[in-house]
Amino acid sequence: MSTLIKSLAGLGLGAALTLTAGSALASGSGCGTFTNAEGVEEHLACSTAPIDFTNKGSLQNGAKTFMNYCAGCHSAKYVRHSRIAKDLEIPPELVEKYLMVTTDQIGEHINAEIDPEIQASWFGAAPPDLSLETRLRGDDWVYTYLLSFYEDPSRPWGANNLVLHNAAMPHVLHNMQEELSQEEFESEVGDLVNFMAWMAEPIRHDRKVIGFFVILFLLVLLIPVYLLNKEFWKDIK
Ligand code: HEC
Repeated sequence: MSTLIKSLAGLGLGAALTLTAGSALASGSGCGTFTNAEGVEEHLACSTAPIDFTNKGSLQNGAKTFMNYCAGCHSAKYVRHSRIAKDLEIPPELVEKYLMVTTDQIGEHINAEIDPEIQASWFGAAPPDLSLETRLRGDDWVYTYLLSFYEDPSRPWGANNLVLHNAAMPHVLHNMQEELSQEEFESEVGDLVNFMAWMAEPIRHDRKVIGFFVILFLLVLLIPVYLLNKEFWKDIK
């Protein structure tokens, strides 16, 4: 019995440690450092990405931005267009018409329009596959990265990035940023990162809801188990 309790406690501790380590990894490293106008190195805090999988409008808008602004260069090789239609509740005809920029098969994955190898020779770095990007870097890192491009004439594409120094990626959202207010731009990028977070783990929201009910179930189960335990032992003691 005591071994059972010990191993159960160990399991719980292990799970707790894994959880903390996971969140520390995603948020602990921050969003890099930069040198300010006085030449002093400053730490760049990450902005919080507005992740909400229940907001289908936001995910749909993010999908539109991703397919129009990112899929030219970046693949998302684990994501099928048909899954976007199903999960984001977009009629397949509309996905075929507006969101399939790199293929005409709805069952196909998102493959970059231009071969990443060729792009490596243009940009000096191949654009990575973005399927799992928010899990690699964290939602907030990706959000802050996309908001942190600035003009820098010394760079080949005239832009640099505070989060990823000398990033090889051009500031592809430049025109969007020019046309919108800062608030509107942040909201567009927020939708885009929301979509990218969905891509990286479509069941993330469901997992949390299910987890909540599992814990609730176990807590409720504890009551009869406790009473039964009392009942079984009462004559023996
Ligand atoms: C013109 C091609 C091009 C387009 C369009 C483009 N990117 Fe990139 N992207 C790149 C390249 C090249 C890199 C590699 C940068 C480096 O390592 O310096 C990159 C890097 C990134 C990274 C950082 C990856 C990492 O972990 O280091 C993210 C995130 C990213 N892109 C997101 C996006 C998003 C979101 C869009 C659409 C709004 C987009 N990109 C559009 C070329 C592109």
